[in-house]
Amino acid sequence: MCGIVGYIGRRDVAPLLLEGLQRLEYRGYDSAGLVITGPKAAGLKMVKAKGRVRDLEARVPKRFAGTTGIAHTRWATHGAPSDENAHPHLDPENRVAVVHNGIIDNAAELRAKLGADGVVFASETDTEVLTHLIARSEADTLEEKVRQTLKLIEGTYGIAVMHADFADRIVVARNGSPVVLGIGEKEMFVASDVAALVTHTRQVVTLDDGEMATLKADDFRTYTTEGSRTTATPTTVEWEAESYDMGGHDTYMHKEICEQPDAVDRVLRGRIDDRFSTVHLGGLNLDAREARSIRRVKILGCGTSYHAGLIGAGLIESLARIPADAEPASEFRYRNPVVDPDTLYVAVSQSGETYDVLAAVQELKRKGARVLGVVNVVGSAIAREADGGTYVHAGPEVCVVSTKCFTNTVVAFALLALHLGRIRDLSVSDGKRIIEGLRRLPAQISEILTMEDEIKKLAKEYADAKSMMFIGRVRGYPVALEASLKLKEISYIHAEAYPASELKHGPLALIEPALPTVAIVPDDDLLEKNRAALEEIKARSGRILAVAHQEQEKADHTIVVPKNEDELDAILMGIPLQLLAYHTALELGRDIDKPRNLAKSVTVE
Ligand code: AGP
Repeated sequence: MCGIVGYIGRRDVAPLLLEGLQRLEYRGYDSAGLVITGPKAAGLKMVKAKGRVRDLEARVPKRFAGTTGIAHTRWATHGAPSDENAHPHLDPENRVAVVHNGIIDNAAELRAKLGADGVVFASETDTEVLTHLIARSEADTLEEKVRQTLKLIEGTYGIAVMHADFADRIVVARNGSPVVLGIGEKEMFVASDVAALVTHTRQVVTLDDGEMATLKADDFRTYTTEGSRTTATPTTVEWEAESYDMGGHDTYMHKEICEQPDAVDRVLRGRIDDRFSTVHLGGLNLDAREARSIRRVKILGCGTSYHAGLIGAGLIESLARIPADAEPASEFRYRNPVVDPDTLYVAVSQSGETYDVLAAVQELKRKGARVLGVVNVVGSAIAREADGGTYVHAGPEVCVVSTKCFTNTVVAFALLALHLGRIRDLSVSDGKRIIEGLRRLPAQISEILTMEDEIKKLAKEYADAKSMMFIGRVRGYPVALEASLKLKEISYIHAEAYPASELKHGPLALIEPALPTVAIVPDDDLLEKNRAALEEIKARSGRILAVAHQEQEKADHTIVVPKNEDELDAILMGIPLQLLAYHTALELGRDIDKPRNLAKSVTVE
């Protein structure tokens, strides 16, 4: 959702901004715009376009020189996607330009007040109020004008501001929406996501909520919205620019599915302790005594991360014998939950920015809970807000549809479960068994990836379905949920996931030849129960595609995956179904990396 890029230095700014915007395209957007100025530019020059960054690029005039600029990709919230509603927003005199991520909750009230004062709005956006308020401020400095304006604002923001009378600087501020400064040699960058910076610099400063910064070509300073200076020491971004490239694949989704053996290897690296048959997770900030006193684990996440959390809860219950469950963070925060001091809360998020998860973490912390983060993006809001946690080290995930992060998050949960288990009652031999299973995962994932041609053929066979059912039991149920989400997200085929045990309680009524069922059938203690469900479906002439450890007689097709330890099988069984969703969507001609209506990071409610 929405992206910000800014630059101040000596280089021609428009191409830099366009390149930065292209790097943010993956987040999802519907319009884009940029504004520039520079020693040879008279005032602020702006171009905006509904549609893609390439539509914006087509509108940029040939002579468009400037060395300072801010740019934006917008995902509509207040007002439809249009040229007028695209950011930046300028005041009527073209002196102030603002780009904004987030939502201003009291925009309607502020618009009414400004309207009563004679302000005529050029857009329907909440952001435009910022522009008018900054332009109308009588403060002497741009910093003070912005600060005065922010005092009037309720809501979330990451903003970048330029002013024709203060052309030597860009002022930025953050409250609930990421702002990262990129520190260069006699040039400074700003973005809402490091993806837009890493081709130019890997030295970054991430602003905290309530922090502002002034960027000039050869220096920057940070301070609070109250005006007190803050210290900002640049850190080095771990991900390289090349990790954001397609690397010879046709889509990011395909690249990211294929990266899973390496990604899993990375999350395991340096963490296994063979001597004590356990793992070390340095950032948990939870000593053995505290770990022993946990009475319950509650995992919170959204979408795919929630599904990873469901598998994580199962792993924690089985390996550490601590009661655990997962809940969508978006639901949790609205039900005035009872916050229990003996419960360990775990927030899961690939991006580390998902608003519902962040808000749940903040609510929990306000009530005194201990919250761990299981997050992919280093230094992201949720990672910073949590008391400790672990990174999942999947590398950047660009496709809106999560694949490698799901797998790595589940592996990270297996590590957490093993760690907690070995502090509590998991035996050395069981610890060793799980470690050996974890070590087998990368090779087993590679083996599954060699089945792509077979899965592609299956996708052709099932792509004409109007609807699909996914079933699984206990550990297999979250796999079914995730596979169903994958399919609907990119193929737009309606899909439902049910516990196999619930079939008789309703969904069996849907079964007929036109509704294929994908069944998760691991070789574990529930094998016979799962087979019984296949019988029930077959008896109603339903088509069945099984993902199993051996051919299933009742299934029309079986994808046979390698067996691991029972507790870890779920990690492998989802992978062929990522490929199934991918090839089904290709078959239907869908835009794989940017499915309709979706954004990579959901930074609003
Ligand atoms: C995954 O395929 C989805 N696009 C979506 O469900 C996603 O997992 C969800 O929005 C949560 O995102 P997060 O992991 O970045 O918090």
